[in-house]
Amino acid sequence: MIQLEAVTKRYGDTLAVDELSLEVRSGEVCVLVGPSGCGKTTTLRMINRLVEPTAGRILVNGRDTSESRPELLRRSIGYAIQSVGLFSHLTVEQNIGIVPTILGWEKSRIAHRVSDLLLLVGLDPTGYAAKYPSQLSGGEAQRVGVARALAADPPILLMDEPFGAVDPLTRERLQQQFLAIQRELNKTIVLVTHDLDEAIRLAGRVAIMRNGRLVQYDTPEALLANPTDGFVRSFVGTDRALKRISRIPVATLMKPAYSLRRDATGLVGPVSELQKYAWVTDDDGRLVGWTETRGGNESPSISEIDPDELERITLPAYASAREALSRMLGQGVRSIPVIDESLKLIGEVTLRDIEEVTAE
Ligand SMILES: Nc1ncnc2c1ncn2[C@@H]1O[C@H](COP(=O)(O)OP(=O)(O)O)[C@@H](O)[C@H]1O
Ligand SMILES: [Mg+2]
Repeated sequence: MIQLEAVTKRYGDTLAVDELSLEVRSGEVCVLVGPSGCGKTTTLRMINRLVEPTAGRILVNGRDTSESRPELLRRSIGYAIQSVGLFSHLTVEQNIGIVPTILGWEKSRIAHRVSDLLLLVGLDPTGYAAKYPSQLSGGEAQRVGVARALAADPPILLMDEPFGAVDPLTRERLQQQFLAIQRELNKTIVLVTHDLDEAIRLAGRVAIMRNGRLVQYDTPEALLANPTDGFVRSFVGTDRALKRISRIPVATLMKPAYSLRRDATGLVGPVSELQKYAWVTDDDGRLVGWTETRGGNESPSISEIDPDELERITLPAYASAREALSRMLGQGVRSIPVIDESLKLIGEVTLRDIEEVTAE
């Protein structure tokens, strides 16, 4: 648990953080969000004593951090930043292994740990361990940065705009991956962002800051339902219903998809019962196309889906309802098939399903 008690930081005449009190429970993701210059980074860096408070107290698991040696404190607190800060002359493996090396772990244990972490962040160890940072894309470098922050298995993780420097699609993937990793590891996390959508997607609780002060600290749902004041209301914006559905995964909305199986001879199954359209799968349940009735006795033909198009046409179960809605609006369709990692059809989400949750 992390407790900030009336913490203040002054730089000359600048009041960067102003009597901020905040509590982050164990296993909770707290996201600090607010306009540039409101004191987010300063707050984060006071927790691991990269910045010393001018006044107030910070407790980590009940202990006043000013009484711990900073280097010891930082061993239990992973730190990941936007610019990633990988050392360019070290390989991915050496970068991730820095803290374990300092801690004197055996070589084989470090190699194991690095390999596990690369898998965790979705990078193949055989392909990536020996690469240098200049050989990585922005998204890959971010993942390595996160892996490095997790290297010594710290119970606490501080992240400053960790997904800031990547394109929107990669950002969404990294966010989904972050949520999946957190479900597994259950770290206590303080994450800084200036992006409210990101805060709402990732946070257990969102701390909205303004001019060094905390203006509201609530769950995303409570924040969207009841902004405390005009500042929060304008920061949260007018599309609160849309923001709310960015927290709802497609998995919770989808219904079984009506589908027919195809074999070498054509469609198998109750083709005569075909109402309007059906998805078509192969023998293994993988989505390969769709079919529509033309009326009369004409037997339906299959419209094939080009495998390269599959990602654009389908959604994974972890995608948000907001993503589903924006796809439907963008492509002029009323339903989207949901597939798993092996491309198997697992359900379908429709515009009506989304209308139902926004109407609640
Ligand atoms: N090392 C520093 N020296 C002087 N002023 C600083 C320093 N670090 C931050 N500040 C000031 O403190 C305020 C808060 O900065 P910061 O915590 O970086 O904001 P944020 O991360 O929310 O953008 C800003 O006005 C910034 O200019
Ligand atoms: Mg900052």
